[in-house]
This record gives sequence, structure tokens and C-alpha cells, in this order.
Amino acid sequence: MLTQPHILYRKLDAALVSDVAEVILNANDFSICDRLAAQYRDMLDVRPHAPVKYVIDYPRHVRDCVRRALALGLNECTGLDILDLATGAGFFPLVCRHFGHHCVALDLPDDPVYGRVTKHFGIEVVAARIEGGKLLPDFGLRFDAVTAFAIAFSRRGDMMPWASGDWRFLLDDLRRNHLKPEGLIWLVLNKHFPGDAHYDDDVKSFFLSQGGAIKGGSVVFRLVAG
Ligand SMILES: C[S@@+](CC[C@H](N)C(=O)[O-])C[C@H]1O[C@@H](n2cnc3c(N)ncnc32)[C@H](O)[C@@H]1O
Repeated sequence: MLTQPHILYRKLDAALVSDVAEVILNANDFSICDRLAAQYRDMLDVRPHAPVKYVIDYPRHVRDCVRRALALGLNECTGLDILDLATGAGFFPLVCRHFGHHCVALDLPDDPVYGRVTKHFGIEVVAARIEGGKLLPDFGLRFDAVTAFAIAFSRRGDMMPWASGDWRFLLDDLRRNHLKPEGLIWLVLNKHFPGDAHYDDDVKSFFLSQGGAIKGGSVVFRLVAG
């Protein structure tokens, strides 16, 4: 059983996070990250948030994903179906697999760094672009949890952050077409607004109206499917 949204933000045991991350780092061959870091490091000179930053500092990013998995309680159950939207290097699916879960990932096609890391680790990635008002692809199964961390897809063509209507469309799509009954959604938004805000008042009210448990840019929902 997954963690209930309201306790998802509880304090985690830091030693446990480090221990689990260490096991995963030792059990898998991360040499691909070193190779890609050497090849693409220069991209950071032009784009400070280029994908290569995830492979340069992969132990920290794996630890972050372990923290997310423990927060969800994925170490206390097994065999869940999880969808990770905009997965990047796929470290979260890798951690899910470590705990015996099945994780499908989605990301844009063709990024050389993300693509090679996810391929190396055998992560199941569906190539698609998330856009406001556009349904997600059919994944052929329903999920116990949908996650999206460090979200970068919530901008319109004019680069304006999504409004509440765009979030409503995504949540409705997830509820109707992708979640199992009582499935959980965990969104972690980036800072899009002045003053380090992750959303405006309208979006915040919408999240709350859907029963979202909010902390900073992190919002968790348990929505009844259908
Ligand atoms: C900041 S990275 C976060 C990666 C991962 N979720 C994590 O937390 O480590 C943002 C990811 O969003 C993906 N992305 C950006 N816009 C997208 C879109 N419109 N549809 C799908 N993925 C998108 C990028 O390719 C990248 O993998």
C-alpha cells in the first residue's frame, strides 16, 4: 500500500537513504554516466541545466530518487505499476525496479544523454511530448502511482506556465485513462514565478480543490479513477 499523501512529506531516515542508494550504485553499472559526462560536459558552458548534469553528479540524483521512493513507501510493498512522466535519465524507474516495482517512463524523444542512459539500464521509455490540452499516449495498462519530478513540461508554446485549466486537463486524463482506482499522483513543480513561487494562486486553489496535499512545489493527490 502506498503512503497516504498527507504523510508523504514526513522526515526520512537519512542513513537508510544513503544505504539504499549505495546498494543501487554498487549493483548497477554506472560507467555509462562517466562516459557521457566526459563526452557532453562542455554543454554546461552554454546550458547550465543541460541533461549532462544528471550524469556528472549521478550519485546525488540516485540518492534523490531513493528519497522519493522511500517517501512513497515503495520499500514497504512490491509489484506496483508506476508511471514516471518526464523521467530524464530514468534513475527513478531504476530505483522502483530495485524495490520490485514495474515502472514505465515517458520523455521527449532523441535526447542523446537521457536516451543512452535509459537504454543502458533497460528502462521502458515511451517517447512523447506532454502538452497542455493533449491526452497522454495509451500505455496499455493502468498505474498505482504517477510521478513527475522537477517538472519542465508545464509551459505553453509562448513559455507561459500552465494555468489551472491545463493542470485540470492532465489530472482528468490521468484519472480517467491511466490511474487505477485510488491511484496516487505526485507532482513536483519547478519554480516558474517571481519570488521563487511554483504556481500562482489560481493553480494553488485548483490543486487544493482536488484534495492536493501541498508542500512547496510538491503536490500529491489521491484521485478516484473513472
Ligand atoms: C529537469 S528534468 C527532470 C528529470 C527527472 N524527472 C528528474 O527529476 O530527475 C526535466 C525532464 O522533462 C522532460 N521534458 C521537458 N519537456 C517535456 C515535455 N513537454 N514532455 C515530456 N517531457 C518533457 C525533459 O526531457 C527532461 O527529461
